[in-house]
Amino acid sequence: MKKIVISTGGGDAPGLNAVIYSVVHACYRKGWEVYGSKSGYAGFLDIDEMVRLTLRDVEGIYSTGGTILGSTNKGNPFSRPVENLAGEIQIIDISDKILRNFERMGFDCHIAIGGDGSLDIAHRFAQKGMPVIGVPKTIDNDLEMTSRTFGFDTAVSTATDALDKLHSTAKSHDRVFVVEVMGRDSGWIALYSGISGGADVILLPEIPFDMEEVCNKIADNELRDKDYAIVVAAEGAVTKDGQVFNKGHGEVGRDEMVLGGVAEWVASEVRKRTDKDSRTLVLGHLQRGGSPTTFDRLLALRFGAAAVRLVEERNFDHMVALKDSQMVAVPIADAIKERKKVDLSSDKILTAREIGICLGDNPEKQEESIT
Ligand code: F6P
Repeated sequence: MKKIVISTGGGDAPGLNAVIYSVVHACYRKGWEVYGSKSGYAGFLDIDEMVRLTLRDVEGIYSTGGTILGSTNKGNPFSRPVENLAGEIQIIDISDKILRNFERMGFDCHIAIGGDGSLDIAHRFAQKGMPVIGVPKTIDNDLEMTSRTFGFDTAVSTATDALDKLHSTAKSHDRVFVVEVMGRDSGWIALYSGISGGADVILLPEIPFDMEEVCNKIADNELRDKDYAIVVAAEGAVTKDGQVFNKGHGEVGRDEMVLGGVAEWVASEVRKRTDKDSRTLVLGHLQRGGSPTTFDRLLALRFGAAAVRLVEERNFDHMVALKDSQMVAVPIADAIKERKKVDLSSDKILTAREIGICLGDNPEKQEESIT
């Protein structure tokens, strides 16, 4: 009999509960015990935050959003901010304590469900001797070595739905709508939802954008009697002059920039440069909410069962991944090396261009300057 602990770390994503459901069920059939550590690693520090997960606890949760264990993106045990007696914030490393408690609690394996940040932490624990299996989660779809992370499909479908609804009001008022979507430094959500939701312009972090090209597209629409336009801007989009849009570091202990503001900037430039009225919509955390789509549910359930298979094979420090429609195991280290970007030669980029979507650049001009 084995004793497994699951944790969910980083930003939540639809499908987390489906992974938990799948792990608990697959372990139950083997006679293994499963525990859940609340809010990332809190369960390793406080026994009240470590909960036993039985079939009853996970009944029906595969279709729900969020995570029954809670999550945090401020809880890196290798660099935890704490307030000292003088009221100053100090960064301390509590990873040894967590490893000791993992062993004392008698766990055989830790299944860490997370994005690049949480999997980086999991990998560092694996290097310290904790048997770890990773499960790739993030709405951003920016993890290498897996063609999909769960949560992405749901986020795209939420964004597409929003775009569908915007068309009628944008058209009624002859307005330009700029919709800001999540994705950090990768444009997956923007590209997939923008193509599917009939965007006129899609701005991706992978292609620095030129406002002149955006305005040309709006003018081009008008020539064809389309007096409105929908612009989808990834939160990590950058201008051709290198302007980025972020709100600083946010909460204490958060390593990454809080992105945002590109939609407001683009909309105001549209007002300055054209005679069009513009409005913005920042979809924000709506993209992380709600029930997982069927695709995400199935993927998450497959990931959970595959993770338990890896535990049995003792294939530690590996992550389950989707490759050519199959479940495979890849080293966690390879998955977190760098963030997966949109491939600019992919057929999705070609499709966008071929159906007349402006990507904020002018490929013809670029070709001319090369020849
Ligand atoms: O990584 C997932 C994500 O939703 C990003 O798309 C976004 O930039 C970030 O998390 C937002 O984080 P927070 O929930 O801390 O605002």
